[in-house]
Amino acid sequence: MNPSKPKILIVDDEKFYLDVLVDLLKEDYKTVIAKDGEQALRRAASDAPPDLILLDILMEGMDGYEVCRRLKANPAVQNIPVIFLTVKSEVADELRGFELGAVDYISKPMSPPIVRARISTHLALNEARQVLADQNQLLERKVRERTEELDRTKYAAIFCMASLVEARDNETGKHLLRTQNYVRVLAEALKNHPRFRHYLDEHTIELLYKTAPLHDIGKVGVPDRILLKPGKLDSEEWVLMKKHPDHGYEALLRAEQEMGTTDFLQVAKEIIYTHHEKWDGSGYPRGLKGDEIPIAGRLMAVADVYDALICRRVYKSSFTHEVAVEMIRQAVGYHFDPDIAKVFLERQEEFKQIASLYADTQN
Ligand SMILES: [Fe+2]
Repeated sequence: MNPSKPKILIVDDEKFYLDVLVDLLKEDYKTVIAKDGEQALRRAASDAPPDLILLDILMEGMDGYEVCRRLKANPAVQNIPVIFLTVKSEVADELRGFELGAVDYISKPMSPPIVRARISTHLALNEARQVLADQNQLLERKVRERTEELDRTKYAAIFCMASLVEARDNETGKHLLRTQNYVRVLAEALKNHPRFRHYLDEHTIELLYKTAPLHDIGKVGVPDRILLKPGKLDSEEWVLMKKHPDHGYEALLRAEQEMGTTDFLQVAKEIIYTHHEKWDGSGYPRGLKGDEIPIAGRLMAVADVYDALICRRVYKSSFTHEVAVEMIRQAVGYHFDPDIAKVFLERQEEFKQIASLYADTQN
């Protein structure tokens, strides 16, 4: 409501009623008049809209019902309370007005105390409604802020945990930042692809980005002598190394059993458990093949292998971006999903930029 006098728009095609109402209300309210429906709609939608509208039903041209219908269809003015002025008293007509969104009726001939009382009541009601709407908006904002804060805290804890595992064989942990960004590039590029669009909505892409850092969390169960060995693993060591997806998966299963599942845990489980599966079925731990491998695992596989190739590890030196790209190209169809690898080849420059943005300082 305006801080000064509330503004009332009086709509009637009979000058007599306009004069009566202006005279009645001018002391307490700022009054504006309209002599027909068109003029009423223009004045209601002006830069200084009224706080309440008194609307005659029977008018030449556009009648009051139509004016009311149009007002309620316009989001800019639909909350302005409308009181119908009518000589009609039949229930059916009153019902029609209420159905169109009017808040009340005043019958002609009008009783001045009733007109004043109804206007005052509906202005107060509308103000209260507005205050409530503002409070709801404020509450919604607070809930949203609190939820975002909880999400950030949860994500920070998860990232921290994954970094601790990573710190055992990678001093900077930038591998996590790079791979989660590679995954997002692939997912964004594939979100309209016929094979992937059913899965890659905005929510899932965000989950993929946030769960990607957990992919190797199961390495916490791999002994240091294997994880840090500066040379090739023998077959017995390799068996233990290949258990890291199982370790991670089992840890998440236990969390799920204790606390119930979430979308986050579902995607995290898929990434952890299937990022070493290969398209031709020769991967581990289960030897899944083709579309049996969850999409999350297939995306992570490309991201993880590219990053492993371009980075120095205790057991190998790094390859250049160009060599890594060529090696992935050679592995299309037996290691990687052909459509995901194709997108990697198309977007390889973005991978190179991410690698440079989050480069390991010791490399
Ligand atoms: Fe891994």
